[in-house]
Amino acid sequence: MFSRRTSWNLCSNRYTQALEAHRRSGRELLDLTASNPTTIGLHYHEEELLRAVTSCVMNYEPAPKGLMSAREAIAAYYAEKESIVSVDDLILTTSTSEAYSFLFRLLCDPSDAVLLPAPSYPLFDFLADLNDVNLVPYELVYDHGWQIDFHSLLQAIDGAKGRCRAVLVVHPNNPTGSYVKPQELRELNRVCSAHELALIVDEVFRDYPLGQPALTFVANNDTLTFTLSGLSKISALPQMKVAWIATSGPQFPKSHALARLEVIADTYLSMNAPIQRAFPAMLAERHSIQAQLVDRIKSNLTALDENLAGQTLCERLAIEGGWYAVLRVPVLGSDEDLAISLLHDTGVLLQPGHFYNFPSDGYLVASLITPLHEFAEGIVSTVTYIAKR
Ligand SMILES: Cc1ncc(COP(=O)(O)O)c(C=O)c1O
Repeated sequence: MFSRRTSWNLCSNRYTQALEAHRRSGRELLDLTASNPTTIGLHYHEEELLRAVTSCVMNYEPAPKGLMSAREAIAAYYAEKESIVSVDDLILTTSTSEAYSFLFRLLCDPSDAVLLPAPSYPLFDFLADLNDVNLVPYELVYDHGWQIDFHSLLQAIDGAKGRCRAVLVVHPNNPTGSYVKPQELRELNRVCSAHELALIVDEVFRDYPLGQPALTFVANNDTLTFTLSGLSKISALPQMKVAWIATSGPQFPKSHALARLEVIADTYLSMNAPIQRAFPAMLAERHSIQAQLVDRIKSNLTALDENLAGQTLCERLAIEGGWYAVLRVPVLGSDEDLAISLLHDTGVLLQPGHFYNFPSDGYLVASLITPLHEFAEGIVSTVTYIAKR
């Protein structure tokens, strides 16, 4: 009765079952996996946002690429960072997930391949299934920082036997927090041009640098490039459902890509009108939200490093930006077993690395946007627990 593309295993995994059991037991939970910014005690200008959303509710102007006022606000946001983006090259979507779907539909026929980094964010598997796209991993390798393994990327292109359509990069990557370096961008442009591949760049965490800001790809004109971002991370407003695609590249593929994307967007017209009108106010909210988040991320990172300083078993991997930290821990079993026993024995919840397709066991992921007290207490318990195993 149902499509093969939805024949997923829908049973909850052992980690989710352990978390549900822990919650039912009523015992304390130190949740170091926070990813929903609306539940972590940030202060929003609620009244201003509400006023903006309700100010103009009854007018409808269907605009496939999104309302001009919203696209102008995005262009101004990039101009502030000295990157020029034309409003004509922007397409609004309800989420980056929707943006990915539009791009997979634009670029891929059934069973075509898109390359994605490993480790990376797990949502891509479902997006690819729903769009009949094969995901082929290429490796990021760690050596004092994460780098793209171009040998593995080229092997993945060869392995796809002419079916590869795009290379996806997440910049900064989730969860490794690593940037695509300028020399890697040059090499990506070279590889994509040589194999006629598009570049899809997820920049949702770009406004959260820990040191140097990350370069943006919005003005990358050497190859057809789709840069994705949105309010869910920029202004910590995932509930407002606004994201976008900025298209750049050589004139010929770019104009055709935009014309086709406009038809895809026009087919759904999924953007909500009041939210688009309120968009400039929501985007402006980033100034106060990012200050709070960057402060918290830095404080949590300091607490983490202070706790790790007195021991040698656990190591924090280098991070350049984003909301997450990766811990390398001794491998005495699977990461999932470690995360479950940590939860059972100490009440601390961390994510096992295998959720993110790390190359081996020995990795745990912590969210740096966790409230400070919870984070500090959770890290002390984790380090003590790992030392005693
Ligand atoms: C790298 C990355 N891209 C995209 C998203 C989802 O963003 P959106 O809410 O716009 O779909 C996430 C969510 O955590 C993410 O980590």
